[in-house]
Amino acid sequence: MKIPIDFLTPGMRVQKPLFGRRGELLLNRGVTLSDSLITLLKKNNILTVDVEGPVPFDEYQIKDTISEKLRQAALNTLMDWIKNRHILNLNRVYEVVKSLVEEILSDKEVSDNLTNLCSTDLYTFAHSVDVCILSVMAGKKLGFNKKKLYTLGMGSILHDVGKLDIPPEILNKPARLSPQEYEIIKKHPIYSYEKLRKREDENLNQYSLNIVLNHHERFDGSGYPRRLKKDEIYELDYLCAIADVFNAMTTHRVYRKALPVHEVYEMLEGSCDTLFPYDITKAFLSCIAPFPPGTLVMLSSDEPALVIASSTLPFRPMVKLLRSSEDIDLTKELNITIKRQLTPEEALSFIPTIDRKRFYSLINVNL
Ligand SMILES: [Fe+2]
Ligand SMILES: [Fe+2]
Repeated sequence: MKIPIDFLTPGMRVQKPLFGRRGELLLNRGVTLSDSLITLLKKNNILTVDVEGPVPFDEYQIKDTISEKLRQAALNTLMDWIKNRHILNLNRVYEVVKSLVEEILSDKEVSDNLTNLCSTDLYTFAHSVDVCILSVMAGKKLGFNKKKLYTLGMGSILHDVGKLDIPPEILNKPARLSPQEYEIIKKHPIYSYEKLRKREDENLNQYSLNIVLNHHERFDGSGYPRRLKKDEIYELDYLCAIADVFNAMTTHRVYRKALPVHEVYEMLEGSCDTLFPYDITKAFLSCIAPFPPGTLVMLSSDEPALVIASSTLPFRPMVKLLRSSEDIDLTKELNITIKRQLTPEEALSFIPTIDRKRFYSLINVNL
């Protein structure tokens, strides 16, 4: 089962191989974790690990939105392509996108799980797969038919292929980019577009190609490479662009830490009709739980709490108080708000009288 890195303890055994940012193997299946290995994983910004069960806090495992097998197939297809730079099998990519769309269309509880996928993997191409899943989910919300979802999925999964042509020392630079380096990065949509257009592949139509070329364009004309604005940018391009920003900001990068989902949610809300059009942003955000179940929070009443269920009001979920185990429905208790998100360590520090074991039993609720 997949559990957050903060809840790993020495002695647990790794259930699935773990890979670093560049696809290198960090830990193989079956390895028993030690303090130093856990530190190594933290250094590599690994956020979740699949460990062999049972674990003491069964209910705290993270559920995958998309089946692990399918995610792996999608990642492998893209990884193959890194190995054989010029032989990208677009037929295979199309098959993968079709399966992802099918799975998303069949999943009835997609929205609550949507944010889980953003922090689970750090494969080199996990971002492309996640952006594809996120944009297709939002497209589903907008009532797109299957064909339109395939088009959106193909453009989204391929949106950053041009990054393969950017020198890795610029792409993975852990410091601020110089203006010249930034100009090079800004060429990747054109590289992606040119690379794919030449293929003249039947699985890649002009709308998918537009997504690739326009995913950094912005509503107010502040984007790149062509500084398009408003309706010069298509609906599908915007969906991929929003999913791209959301995934990039909620994922750890070499140059900065992941931002909490609720902060990115608010940032996107604030960018309606400046960076992205209002209705498309709203459709995307309706798929996101800013405080997904499992999030530890501090309430305005100075009570640490655990989010146990989402509600119709995104910022007012159902919570369980950590000190008293009392459940509070924030859609009813309107005088109480969520003040901020807590790390597990912070949450523990607010409960000094009980030990960690009791803390886990407190949060051992059905999420
Ligand atoms: Fe990009
Ligand atoms: Fe991207």
